Amino acid sequence: MTEARLEAWLAETRSFAPSSEFTAQANVGPEIYAEADADPVTYWRRQADRLTWTKEPTVTLEWDLPFATWFSDGELNASYNCVDRHVEAGRGDKVAYHWVADAEGETRTITYADLQKMVAQAAHALTELGVKAGDRVAIYMPMIPEAVVTMLACARLGAAHSVVFAGFSAEALSSRILDSDCQVVVTADGAFRRGAASPLKPAVDDALKSCPNVRAVLVVRRTGGDVDWVEGRDHWWHELVERQSTTHECQSFPAEQTLLIMYTSGTTAKPKGIYHTTGGYLTQCATTHWQIFDVKPDTDVCWTAADIGWITGHSYIVYGPLVNGVTQVLYEGLPDSGGRDRWWKIIEQFKVSILYTAPTTIRTLMKWGHEHPEGHDLSSLRLLGTVGEPINPEAWMWYREHVGGNRCPIVDTWWQTETGAILASPLPGITATKPGAAMHAIPGVSIDVVDNEGHAVGNGEGGYLVVTQPWPSMTRGIYGDPERFKDVYWKRFPGVYFAGDGAKKDDDGDLWLLGRVDDVMNISGHRLSTTEVEHALVGYPLVAEAAVVGASDATTGQAIVAFVTLKLSADEAQRDQAGVISDLRDHVAKVISPIAKPRQIILTPELPKTRSGKIMRRLLRDVAENRPLGDVTTLTDPSVVNSIADLMSQGVEE
Ligand code: WTA
Repeated sequence: MTEARLEAWLAETRSFAPSSEFTAQANVGPEIYAEADADPVTYWRRQADRLTWTKEPTVTLEWDLPFATWFSDGELNASYNCVDRHVEAGRGDKVAYHWVADAEGETRTITYADLQKMVAQAAHALTELGVKAGDRVAIYMPMIPEAVVTMLACARLGAAHSVVFAGFSAEALSSRILDSDCQVVVTADGAFRRGAASPLKPAVDDALKSCPNVRAVLVVRRTGGDVDWVEGRDHWWHELVERQSTTHECQSFPAEQTLLIMYTSGTTAKPKGIYHTTGGYLTQCATTHWQIFDVKPDTDVCWTAADIGWITGHSYIVYGPLVNGVTQVLYEGLPDSGGRDRWWKIIEQFKVSILYTAPTTIRTLMKWGHEHPEGHDLSSLRLLGTVGEPINPEAWMWYREHVGGNRCPIVDTWWQTETGAILASPLPGITATKPGAAMHAIPGVSIDVVDNEGHAVGNGEGGYLVVTQPWPSMTRGIYGDPERFKDVYWKRFPGVYFAGDGAKKDDDGDLWLLGRVDDVMNISGHRLSTTEVEHALVGYPLVAEAAVVGASDATTGQAIVAFVTLKLSADEAQRDQAGVISDLRDHVAKVISPIAKPRQIILTPELPKTRSGKIMRRLLRDVAENRPLGDVTTLTDPSVVNSIADLMSQGVEE
């Protein structure tokens, strides 16, 4: 459908009603909303019964704004809930993961019984390395089963894992290790991407030069290349883990035991260590996975196509699906490893029924052409989901038509690292869906859209998204920095959680997410702060000043555009602009990650500033997006903007 026809059609159709077939078999019915609304706290207490507790909680919510605890006197073990209890219930032969390697044809089938043994061995190995309850363990690994096993082994011991996305640089890794004082790191020698091995261990070795407290590194052999080895510190997984006993008696921990730390970008240069505790987080991961993905553990095959280095992987590859005991696909590679129809081959081969991914990936698959999905039997699919960024109606419709065969409901799920689990989404079989709308808060969650003063907006109006009541999987804070937690999320609108997103209620009162309203960018669904990238740029010796904005991009949602002034005189800088720009991009990749490389770097003699000396980012965003420039009356020297706009139009970019 062309964009214009699509718009006309959407204006008329507005929404898709749930199909009667789907409604007839859905896990929950429409009464769930009223039931939760009547008493959200009791509702969540009932949801906690999805878990096996060794000590049942007698209290549910304790709320000392902004700090909440849930089920605090309950006790449980997260890894028992994900693994052992399914084996004890006689479901040990059920497949937990179909692991699919980057290389075609290489797969591993891991049942719940296998997973139980692997987790037991890893837990013994970590114990041998001195890991105990309350410790932190850093995980820097590719998408291999051992990554999941390590997370579960940490959880089994009551130690918090801090998974750092393997695409992050050594510097980013070391700052995360130091911030939460991780003393053990689990990694691999390398990773495969489109058939090529790329090393990982050297980044760990580099990072650890500034982390004297790390006493042990556990290394999975994945690619088989040569690695440097520090005797006494480094241990091979196949030597240390595989000789351990395959049974492990687990101990229970309080519901509020820290389960995980996940670093995410905020509006400052320093990423925040968002931490989640056990009982509330698991309850909401399992509940949302059950209701929103409508999972049938006996028959469904779920594939969350995300990396475990992000929260989506934690909540919907590891904890939610495993608590619910479903079968999943765990895929190591890229969407085009082995060809542009790789995804569709995987769906066909493993009869994937529930697919969950980011709009960026959908747009990329769409660009590659619908002949790829159409060349495969995708009839096993029955539900599709999206997460991580606003989805444009065109991509939504493509997903519906060419992937979902116009039969699968699409759930557009809004949430954040901080929220731990989904907070807004349609419920398939109950809620209508609209291309690009997250529709409603889920049962038991209260969301509103407010204006600048914090008053709820009416239908047809936009504003800021807030969450007005605590929810079980809400972050318990920023690791080691309770004050920052209050300032970042609870100050802007007193008494409610401010997510940093813009949103609108449409004429029917349905919820649409409009993107970040702060200095956080969303690049291909990855969160990065403008300040973080600026900080990296000014760390380069030649750079005097830098301003970074997120400009809209047809594929990646947003792309990084950097405006940089150099310390050299303009003349000197002009001489080798292309060289400087390429060095700067490499520098950002080294300091943060290749995902943070600016799409475009504009070298400019000056940056536009207000009279009080603040860089006018909004103006730069207008320049980067080729929009007519708005009000420049507070600008010290308006001609600066014009000269930057000229530079942009000359297309000085990589
Ligand atoms: C954005 C990812 C629109 C939003 C789970 C949020 C979305 C940030 C959606 C969190 C959605 C996530 N529609 N925007 N369905 N889902 N976002 O912490 O800006 O990596 O604040 O968590 O992604 O990103 P994070």
